[in-house]
Formats: sequence, structure tokens, C-alpha cells
Amino acid sequence: MSVNEINDKIREAAKVAAQYHTDNVGAPAATRLEWPVAVSVNKGLEGAIACETKIGYVDGVNGRLVYRGHDSFELSEHSNFEETSYLLLYGKMPNAAEYKAFDEKLKGYRKLPHEIYDALKLGAVKTAHPMTSLYITTGMLGALDQKSEDVSWQNQEEIAIRLISRISTLVGEIARLRKGLEPVEPDLSLGHAANLVYMMTGSKPDEATTKLMDIALILHADHGMNASTFTAMVANSSLSDMYSSVVAGITSLKGSLHGGANEKVLYDLEEIGTPDKAEEWFKKAREEKRKVMGFGHRVYKAYDPRARIFGPLVEFMARRNPEINNLYSIAKKLDAIICEQFGKEKKIFPNVDFYSGLIYRGMGIETAMFTPIFAASRISGWTARILEYLKENRLFRPRAVYTGETKAEYIPIDKR
Ligand SMILES: CC(C)(COP(=O)(O)OP(=O)(O)OC[C@H]1O[C@@H](n2cnc3c(N)ncnc32)[C@H](O)[C@@H]1OP(=O)(O)O)[C@@H](O)C(=O)NCCC(=O)NCCS
Repeated sequence: MSVNEINDKIREAAKVAAQYHTDNVGAPAATRLEWPVAVSVNKGLEGAIACETKIGYVDGVNGRLVYRGHDSFELSEHSNFEETSYLLLYGKMPNAAEYKAFDEKLKGYRKLPHEIYDALKLGAVKTAHPMTSLYITTGMLGALDQKSEDVSWQNQEEIAIRLISRISTLVGEIARLRKGLEPVEPDLSLGHAANLVYMMTGSKPDEATTKLMDIALILHADHGMNASTFTAMVANSSLSDMYSSVVAGITSLKGSLHGGANEKVLYDLEEIGTPDKAEEWFKKAREEKRKVMGFGHRVYKAYDPRARIFGPLVEFMARRNPEINNLYSIAKKLDAIICEQFGKEKKIFPNVDFYSGLIYRGMGIETAMFTPIFAASRISGWTARILEYLKENRLFRPRAVYTGETKAEYIPIDKR
């Protein structure tokens, strides 16, 4: 068959197709092209409803965050990451036997296949941003799992638990190898939060540090239809597998308008240097129309409850460490300035990412690792929502309002 014959076939097919072109009258409403377009488009899908859920609720007006009916303040006080993950996944608090079984399962999955270590030793992975290393190695976990392509609900549920356990181990290994240190083996005598700190720093944390990491993991675990959760759910709605969908979530979380903000906040605080420079720094940011990282939120038009919890907790870190003390003083000053100048007028307040990094810094964790810790927590929300949606899955497939030409003519390159 020649190229000319192929092109003849395409022309014939176009003629056949044209016989069926109509003015769309009678076509189902969802596929009809109406012109001029009679819809309003909210940039960034603001206000769009993607699905129903029973997992979590962000009350943006009152600054409340609820998981399965439980308030985030109450969970921070009483719960830990394992229990909160169970709550998100299964919709109820585990009883003692259920907790034990879930905890044992998480611990059983903690150790990584040795191929992950080999991959992390490779130059490009080692020097990449740790979120890049994280999605590469999360993808590898999928590649190494012979059952990853089984997208039945039961198998995806099992992978979810495996990933809730292993993303933390990956984060621990990445943190160590970035510093040129050998990874430490997961310690099965430690709870999830304590083991994460241990694997990142090489030291077993005290009770207070463990509690602070638990709070951080609880507070980041779920947050409505945020960008990374939506991304992960969209990927999974095509019946892709859990690993791939979680990789999609990680890539979205990486950006500075989302999880990546916590890392940037620390660089900003360091750039400001001392509390007396905060006012001038903010004035310049306003003049340059720069967004201040760690402030503002699409849903919260009140002070983010997670920042309300984290802010005062940084004080414990500040007491132990003069560097944190200085950064905390700068942060509090910036918080006060922005709330005063932007709070009433624009409803811009600190969000979760403003104070969290100071807690991690106080634990001796490298700034670039802050967003991976976010992922080690949000994995519970991603997987819980993927599994909830999978029960009555329907492919996510929104539309865009086409504002371009519809009758452009193809002109050969030498005649353009
Ligand atoms: C989170 C965020 C992306 C939500 O943004 P959004 O709902 O799309 O809101 P917009 O970016 O459209 O901002 C609305 C207005 O508030 C301003 N604004 C929002 N966040 C701001 C910030 N952090 N600093 C300064 N101004 C901000 C915008 O400049 C815009 O002002 P304008 O109406 O005068 O143009 C945004 O607040 C932001 O970029 N924050 C910094 C990054 C961050 O901390 N991300 C973590 C979120 S948990």
C-alpha cells in the first residue's frame, strides 16, 4: 500500500464522517457544543464538585477540619497516625484487636525490597529533588509487585496498606542517602511516627518528638479534594493501578502552590534573617506581587486549624534550639503582619505549611525533606479516597470550553 492510497482512504473516511455531521440538535446535552458558550468557567475548578465522600470535610468558613466526623484537634490530642489511617480507610475507629492487626500489617510491610536501595544509589536519583526520588521509587515498588496490575478492590486495598507503610520507609532511606549516609533498618519496636523520625535522623526520638511527628502525620493525612488527591483519583479512575495513581499524587504534591510550600517557607524565613526585617520583606513581596508561601488557601477563608495547632507547638522546638527560636520569632512576626494586612481584606491567613517546617527543622530534618514527609502522611488520604471512589468508579472526564478556531485550513509547509 502506498502513502497516496493511505491518504485516499483518509479522504474517503472524512467524506463518510461529514455525512453524519449535524448542528448537534438532538445530541445528548453532555456532548452538544453550544455556541456561544453559555457556561461560566471557574479557573482552577474553584467550587466544582467532583464526587460525594464520607472521608473528610474542610469547613473553610469556620476553619475546621474533620475526618469521618472526628475533629482534627481531637485527633491530634488523642490519636496517632496508624489509628487515623485506619479511620480514613475504614470509616470507624478500630477496636483494640483491629488496631493490633492493622499495626502488625503496617510493620510487616515496612522493609523495602533491596532493589530500591540500588536505585537510590544511582546518581540521578540520588541528586534529584527528594520528591522526584520518591515518585521514582514508588513507581519501582509497583514494578516489583507481581500483583500490581490486579485492580480488584481487595488487591488495591492491600497495596494501599503496603504504601501507607512503605512511603515512610522510602522517605527515611532518601533522607539518609541524600546526606551520604547509609539507611538504617526500620525498627519494628517503634510506632509509625517514631520509626519515620528514626529512619530519617538515625536517632530514636523521645516521647515529645514522637508525639509531634504523630500530630504532623495526622494533620496532613487528608484534606478534601486538594490537587494531589484529585490527581491521584483522576489517575485511578481510568482503572490504572494504585502505585501509578499514588505516583500521580506525589507529582502534584511536589509543586510550591501545594505541598512544596513548606520547604519554601523555610527558605523565606532564612532570607528574612531577623524579625525586624519581616515588615520590609513583606512590603517588597507585595510590591513584586509575589505570593508568600505558607499563606492563603482555596477553601479556608479563616485561620487554618492545622496552623493553629502547629504554631504554638513550634515553641517547644524553639526552647531547645536558638536557630529555631529566631526563625520562630520571624514567623510569628510575619504571621501577625499578614493577618493584619490581608486577613480582613483578602481572607489570607497562615496555612498548614507555614509552621510545619519549623517543627521538622527542630527535629534535625533537612529542609528538602519536608514535602516528602507530607507525602508520607497524605498517602492515607490518597488511598482512602481512591478506594472509596473505586467502589462506584466512573472515569473522570470533564470538558474545557474551546475558544479556538474550528475551520482552519491545512497549508503545506512550503506555502505558509
Ligand atoms: C494556596 C493558594 C494556591 C490558593 O490560591 P487560590 O485559591 O487559587 O487563590 P489565588 O491564587 O487566585 O489568590 C486570590 C488572591 O489572593 C492573593 N493571594 C493568595 N495567596 C496569597 C499569598 N500566599 N500571598 C499573597 N497573596 C496571596 C492573590 O494574589 C490573589 O489576589 P488578587 O485577587 O488581588 O489577584 C494560594 O493561596 C497560594 O499560592 N499560597 C501560597 C502557596 C501555599 O502556601 N500553598 C500551600 C497551600 S496549603
